[in-house]
Amino acid sequence: MNNQAPIFFKNPIKNIEKIFSEGEYSDLIFLVDSNTAEHCLPRISAKLTTEYKVIQIPAGEIYKNLDTTQFIWNELSKLGTDRNALLINLGGGVIGDMGGFAASTYKRGIEFVQVPTTLLSMVDASVGGKTGINYNGIKNSIGLFSNPKAVIVDGAFLKTLDKRQMLNGFAEMLKSGLIENGEYFYQLAESGANGIDGIDKMIQESIHIKEEIVAKDPFEKDERKKLNFGHTIGHGIESYSLLNDIDPLLHGEAIAVGMICESFLSNKISNLSDADLAKVSTLIINLFPTYEISDLAIDPILEFLQYDKKREGVKSNYTLISQIGQSMINQHVSLELARESIEYYQNCVKLHNIDHPQSA
Ligand SMILES: NC(=O)c1ccc[n+]([C@@H]2O[C@H](COP(=O)([O-])OP(=O)(O)OC[C@H]3O[C@@H](n4cnc5c(N)ncnc54)[C@H](O)[C@@H]3O)[C@@H](O)[C@H]2O)c1
Ligand SMILES: [Zn+2]
Repeated sequence: MNNQAPIFFKNPIKNIEKIFSEGEYSDLIFLVDSNTAEHCLPRISAKLTTEYKVIQIPAGEIYKNLDTTQFIWNELSKLGTDRNALLINLGGGVIGDMGGFAASTYKRGIEFVQVPTTLLSMVDASVGGKTGINYNGIKNSIGLFSNPKAVIVDGAFLKTLDKRQMLNGFAEMLKSGLIENGEYFYQLAESGANGIDGIDKMIQESIHIKEEIVAKDPFEKDERKKLNFGHTIGHGIESYSLLNDIDPLLHGEAIAVGMICESFLSNKISNLSDADLAKVSTLIINLFPTYEISDLAIDPILEFLQYDKKREGVKSNYTLISQIGQSMINQHVSLELARESIEYYQNCVKLHNIDHPQSA
C-alpha cells in the first residue's frame, strides 16, 4: 500500500486510453453519478476511441452506502465483468470512495482509476488510498486502504461546478497551506476561489502537499494527522449541522469554521501569533458564508467531540499550527478552551456582521 498511485495532470482521454491499452484490460467501465453523467462523461466519451460501458448511480452523499455498492457489484456482474476489467471512477469524492471500494472488493479486486471532477476530490479525496462507504449512520465506517492504478486530474472539469462546491474544496487547499506551506497559503488568499484560470497549478501544490504527508505515513499513525487541522472542532460543527439544519453545511464549510476555532486554539497553545490568527480569521470569515452558532448549540457541538472525562476533559488529538505553514500533531486541548474557541468564532461572525450589515 506504500506505493502511491501515479498522478497525471490534464489529457484525461489520452491518459485513460494509454492506461487501458498498456494494461491489456478486458473491459473499460465508467462509474458516474447523474451529474457527472451529464457534465463530465461527454467530455471524455465524445473522443474516446476505445469501447466502454457505463454504470450510473444517483448523485449525493446519501447514496454512499451499502445498497448502492451492492447495485454497483450487481451491474458489474450483469456486464459480465471479469477480474481483468478497469473501472474509471469519474466524479466527486462519493464516486471515488465508493467506486474504489466496490472495485477493490469485486472478485477480490479489479483495478480502478480515479478521475476526480470536484475541487474537493481533486485536492483531497482522490489522493491517499482511502476508499469506503458510510454505514449505520457513521461516515466512512466500512472501507479499505486501496490504491488506484492512477489518478487523472484535469481542472477543466471544474467549469460546471457551482461556487459552493468550489469553496468546499478551497477550504482543504487553505488547510494544506496552513499546515505545510505558508507561501502557498498567501497565494491562495490572494487568488480566492473564484478564477479557475491558474487553478491547475494551485491544485497541483495541494496534491503535492498531501502526497508528501501520506508517503511518510500511509496508515495515519502520526504525520498524516497533520491533515486533521480544523477537523476536530470542524467535525463537531459538521455533525451538529447535519442533525439540526435544513440545509446543512458542506464538509469544507464546516472545516472553514473549524480552522478559525483551531487557529484560536493555536494562538493559546502552540504560539500562533496574534497577527497570524487575525490573518486566518479575516480571510476565512470574508470568503465563506458565516455560520450562526447559537449559545445553546455550543454544548451539543462539544459533545460530538467526546472529551475524555477521566482525563479532566482534555482531548489530545488536535493538530494545531505554530505559524502559518507549520503544524504540530497530538496537541492537548481542554474542554473549556474548546468552548472558548467556538465563542471566538461567534465573535468573528458578530464583528463581520457589523462591518457587512447586508450579509447579516
Ligand atoms: N478518500 C478520502 O481521503 C476522502 C477525503 C475527503 C473527502 N472524502 C469523501 O468525499 C466525499 C465528498 O466529495 P465531494 O465533495 O466531491 O462530493 P460529491 O461526490 O457528492 O460531489 C458533489 C456534487 O457535485 C456534483 N459534481 C461532481 N462533479 C461535477 C462537475 N464537474 N460539474 C458539476 N457537478 C459535479 C456531484 O454529482 C455532487 O452532486 C465525501 O463522501 C467524503 O467522505 C474522501
Ligand atoms: Zn476534510
